[in-house]
Amino acid sequence: MKTLRWEDGALKLIDQTRLPLEFAVVECRTYQEVADAIRVMIVRGAPAIGVAAAFGFALGALQSKARDRGELLAELSGVTETLRQTRPTAVNLFWALQRMNAVAQSADGDLAEMRRAILSEAHEMAREDEERNRCIGAFGAELVRDGDTILTHCNAGALATVDYGTALGVVRAAHEQGKRIHVLVDETRPFLQGARLTAWEMEQAGIPATLITDNMAGHFMSRGRIDVVVVGADRIAANGDVANKIGTYSVAVLARENGIPFYVAAPTSTVDLSLKSGQEIPIEERSESEVLYINGKRIAPEGISAAHPAFDVTPNRYVTAIVTEQGVVRSPYQFVTKGVSE
Ligand code: MRU
Repeated sequence: MKTLRWEDGALKLIDQTRLPLEFAVVECRTYQEVADAIRVMIVRGAPAIGVAAAFGFALGALQSKARDRGELLAELSGVTETLRQTRPTAVNLFWALQRMNAVAQSADGDLAEMRRAILSEAHEMAREDEERNRCIGAFGAELVRDGDTILTHCNAGALATVDYGTALGVVRAAHEQGKRIHVLVDETRPFLQGARLTAWEMEQAGIPATLITDNMAGHFMSRGRIDVVVVGADRIAANGDVANKIGTYSVAVLARENGIPFYVAAPTSTVDLSLKSGQEIPIEERSESEVLYINGKRIAPEGISAAHPAFDVTPNRYVTAIVTEQGVVRSPYQFVTKGVSE
């Protein structure tokens, strides 16, 4: 099953909080349920969050009791606000909601016709996402050689998108080309997207992979056992600075120290041209309980507090190239995107 799919008037999501121990599907029938699913990370990963929000917006339109166009648009602005408040860093969320609002504003006809146009736009976004990931995969695979060991951080795979993945799209495409690759998977504390989700995806795809803890990457790099790093992104500023899962910056600096190429794979919907540099990217602070507990079990003494920035920013000087659906882009970055404004 895909990470998210529309079925019987509901958004169905693979519950990413339960993998890999349990494969469960969560059904969202209201926009509030979609917002909750994004907030608690049942669905996560920048592109998947964007498309889930688009379907959440569509659910808002479908569940509305509005009697005319004006009332529906007013309700949809409330729906938009609720969805916008879920997670701050991945710009795909804001990009998707902006696009959905533009469709709602410009849809002609009666309420049924507006609802039809809105739902159809969400489906179109889901279709585009998969298509873009396959393009990213094809461009990125050219940067991977037969026999390479690839380090990745977090999960930028099928689970973080509608399907196929961005960073893991590159891995999948290289594997599909018959290249003998091996993936080193950073466990990605504290939410363990690497250990739980990337490791699961690699198992499912039959791609050879080894799990490492986050503090092992430097060791493997220094011993010549990592050839290339490929990660995803949550927001890319106009100058090519990249926000991605906490720990990405450390990996990038280590890669530079060890002369290893560091690639970012992301669709142009992750580029935010309104921000000049990564310093302006809002960094989500999540609950300290995600650091203090693993699987509900406390791992630190009572009384200690914990910090939990969920993302960090890698300055563009550490980024060898950014792979988008349009090709491989290098510094000085000239992104072609429709843009987003928050
Ligand atoms: O907090 P998450 O799990 O939503 O963070 C996900 C990441 O940082 C991914 O690397 C990024 O969204 C790219 S997903 C294709």
